[in-house]
Amino acid sequence: MTQDIYLTGITTTGSPHIGNYVGAIRPGIAASKDPSKKNFYFLADYHALAKNEDPDKISRSTLEIAASWMALGLDTDNAVFYRQSDIPEIPELTWILTSMTAKGLMNRAHSYKASVQANEESGSKDPDKGITMALYSYPILMAADILMFKSTKVPVGRDQKQHVEMARDIAQRFNHHYGDIFVLPDAVIDDNTAVLAGLDGRKMSKSYNNTIPLFADEKRLRKLIMKIKTNSLEPGEPKDIEGSTLYDIYKAFATEEETAAVEKRYAEGIAWGEMKQLLFEYINEHIGPARDEYERLIADPAIVEAELRKGAEKARAISEPYLAQIRDAIGIRRLG
Ligand code: TRP
Repeated sequence: MTQDIYLTGITTTGSPHIGNYVGAIRPGIAASKDPSKKNFYFLADYHALAKNEDPDKISRSTLEIAASWMALGLDTDNAVFYRQSDIPEIPELTWILTSMTAKGLMNRAHSYKASVQANEESGSKDPDKGITMALYSYPILMAADILMFKSTKVPVGRDQKQHVEMARDIAQRFNHHYGDIFVLPDAVIDDNTAVLAGLDGRKMSKSYNNTIPLFADEKRLRKLIMKIKTNSLEPGEPKDIEGSTLYDIYKAFATEEETAAVEKRYAEGIAWGEMKQLLFEYINEHIGPARDEYERLIADPAIVEAELRKGAEKARAISEPYLAQIRDAIGIRRLG
């Protein structure tokens, strides 16, 4: 058995929130500390272009996401941590894969179809209104990310599963045509990693504007937690843990024993105000030390930049020779 290679990317749009932390960052950091695992984590800044984000926002988000991983203790000696745009082999591979991708495959991408559907529902005459080619062929860039480092396991959220399957399809078609070049990846969807609800009870997501930023300062963190939606049960009335956002968030951070203790408090009728205070204190304590480090890094971006350069060097030691091999296989060759 060859060793599994784990790879995952985070699109650089927005600030990381506690949903990203428990869903992706925390398990990624744990894996980076496991010497039996080979990990690649990267900032997908080219992907961020697909929605024409504000340039300063993309750059700020890149800094915030990178600083978050570092502050929380990513072991960059045991993980390759890099920025997509530092690896010129990735866009080159994207073009090569584009020539092996059936247009019909891209037509079937959920994310593209959802945009078309939104246009149709809004009564627009043009079903492709506002859809860039980058959005349309987004899965090909993602396939290049995955195939470039021969990853076998790609931990992603459920919404990205189809994209990983497309990477596999594209790799298979390429291998059939040009010989055994690519390793076929599998998506890893962890049913145990929490999908957290946000302030309003819907899934915590930047698009719903209901997030709790991971490194909000103490005052803001308290304010946001106080806003989390509850029902109108009075203090002393027993409360259900089922469907309680406060409980779910607490559980995502706390140990099993601590969670069991809170369950008991719910049954005894803990007041919502008290539960909010308890949750605030818990998260604040848990995140506090990393927040100090995060703020130090944000104030000194050169440290983050140096780490990303180091990662890019490690990544390119792999991507450069591999792309040379791929170019040769497809007939892009030096003459004589
Ligand atoms: N598309 C992914 C997302 O939005 C981010 C991403 C880009 C990615 N390239 C990747 C994830 C490669 C896994 C592997 O969540």
